[in-house]
Amino acid sequence: MGLQGKRVLVGISGGIAAYKTLFLIRLLKKEGAEVRCVCTPSALQFVTPLSLSTLSGNAVYSDMFSPVNQTATAHISYADWGDILVVAPATANTLGKFALGIADNALTTLYTAFTKPVLVAPAMNTNMYRNPAVEANMESLRKRGVRFVEAEIGPLACGCAGQGRMAEPETILAETAALFDNTSASAFWREKKVLLTAGPTQEAIDPVRYISNHSTGLMGASLSDVLTERGAQVYLVCGPMKNQPAREPYRRISVTSAAEMYRESLALWSGMDMGILSAAVADYRPKTACGQKIKKHEAETMLELVKTDDILASLGRSKKPHQFLAGFALETENETANAAEKLHRKNADLIVLNSMRDAGAGFGTATNKVSFLDKTGQIVTGECKGKGAVAADILDYIENLICVQSLTHPA
Ligand code: CTP
Repeated sequence: MGLQGKRVLVGISGGIAAYKTLFLIRLLKKEGAEVRCVCTPSALQFVTPLSLSTLSGNAVYSDMFSPVNQTATAHISYADWGDILVVAPATANTLGKFALGIADNALTTLYTAFTKPVLVAPAMNTNMYRNPAVEANMESLRKRGVRFVEAEIGPLACGCAGQGRMAEPETILAETAALFDNTSASAFWREKKVLLTAGPTQEAIDPVRYISNHSTGLMGASLSDVLTERGAQVYLVCGPMKNQPAREPYRRISVTSAAEMYRESLALWSGMDMGILSAAVADYRPKTACGQKIKKHEAETMLELVKTDDILASLGRSKKPHQFLAGFALETENETANAAEKLHRKNADLIVLNSMRDAGAGFGTATNKVSFLDKTGQIVTGECKGKGAVAADILDYIENLICVQSLTHPA
């Protein structure tokens, strides 16, 4: 399972699910991991230091100011020691402190000092789990790269039923192992440098108005997540997206306008192995953006628009033989002919085509349906699926295309 010799910090906060953490520690030890436990004061109301130290084989860190066996900087030495921090159970209180950077006990202080992967398994009453503040805290932790083992649905300690049960120790063990396991990072994608553009752009008319489109960035966020999961180094150049990647990409450059996206993308391109341009870039921008808010004077007015620079076409022009370039096309008519024209005009290797005529495809939907058009002239149409699954299909298609190309045209 890949846990042999790994140093796992098991963080425990105060919930009845802490009894299941004893099984998790046993499982981790059985897989060959070294385990040290770090507890909040409330955790010790549910499990004893004796059980934890007996099962883990190490002293328990729970008292930041114990004069006996700790130093004042124990949280730092624990943070240095661990390869991963697995917090199970993670209560609403502890998640809130993590999200806000509050460091007031051994576990929250350790978390704040910890720079390596963190996996949390929340456990709480279902109303607490669905509380908007708790959800917002979990979301902000996700955005910072914290991985979650979602709570399960079932009977809860309070007597009611719903989502809130801590995941089973076997599930948490498998998720812990997956974070170390290189098989989730495929050999093809590992270390590949991928420029990914995503989201809409906004073209200023004046300080309070802009031209934009309906892109929410969900397709781009899904691509970023699947690329990261597969081990790629994602350079995400993104406009103002409503949907964010669940995992922090390798590097993220936030932009607003097409001109900024163009500048940032071109600066990165020569160092990239691949470009996937999923952004819905504005094709036109106001010729001048007024410094002051435009006041209304007459019944009609004119806005002079000029074309923005085409990022995909510019990258296509400077594309080196080892670089792969994929663009997107959103069409409402003559889909295949328009996509084929774009493929050639912009010198892309692949166009991922969305048709606005397909139900469940396009902006703002959780699903998408795409067709693939490459230089061989073949067109392959996928099923309507969740955008995460479509992102995986797009990457599979690219991988397959590159592998076939390298077989037919070996370097
Ligand atoms: N694109 C880009 N820079 C632009 C405009 C588009 O990089 N200024 C990219 C998009 O990210 C997408 C592809 O080009 O990958 C297709 O965009 P689309 O707007 O559909 O194509 P256009 O060439 O602008 O054609 P049209 O709007 O006429 O359909």
